[in-house]
Amino acid sequence: MLEMKRKVCLVGDEGVGKTCLIRRLAYNTFDEAYIRTVGTMVSKEEVDLPEMERRVTLMIWDIMGRKDFMELFKAAYFNHVRGIVAVFDLTKPKTLDSLDDWIRSVQSSVGKIPTVVMANKADVEMAGRSLDEDIQRFCDSHALRFLKTSAKTGDNVKEAISYLAREMVTDEEQGRTSSSLESPLIASRSPTRGRTV
Ligand code: GTP
Repeated sequence: MLEMKRKVCLVGDEGVGKTCLIRRLAYNTFDEAYIRTVGTMVSKEEVDLPEMERRVTLMIWDIMGRKDFMELFKAAYFNHVRGIVAVFDLTKPKTLDSLDDWIRSVQSSVGKIPTVVMANKADVEMAGRSLDEDIQRFCDSHALRFLKTSAKTGDNVKEAISYLAREMVTDEEQGRTSSSLESPLIASRSPTRGRTV
């Protein structure tokens, strides 16, 4: 297995569930309490892609979902980022409207890089108009894939991260992301272990 370590950033408005998604990935737990992220949290997620003979270690950076904060620290936060997890809250349409700004902000620092959209809180029963058409329109216009996720039930959380890891590997194999970005590549052979997706 060829091993790679890459930095990924998690973006989206306050309260959309970024920290809960990380907690679901890292500890397989969920907490109803909303504790606003102050500063940055970095966590590690290993994704095995046997069909690509890769193990990708993602260093996932979660910052508080305030655009003013992000603007202040964007140079450090987005430096060497190779993938984006863009999260919005299915129960708050405004958070979908914000995604364009979030994604553009990362792209203005590092260019166009692999991105997955998480339409989060899919476990909540919603009355009224479905957002499906709006989500599809947004994703089509940016050539992005979205998955409806739930940090509460765990639905599609690992799938979305695996999809992103696969896109990142493909992107680099096709030379779309320049290797001159100095992201550390650990190329070594090691026995297969850990989670297979
Ligand atoms: P900031 O740190 O302010 O950027 O917020 P955040 O995006 O990290 O949101 P956080 O993960 O703290 O979640 C905010 C609230 O939404 C919490 O009360 C969570 O319990 C709730 N929440 C997060 N994900 C889900 C989900 O998938 N389903 C439901 N029902 N609630 C969720």
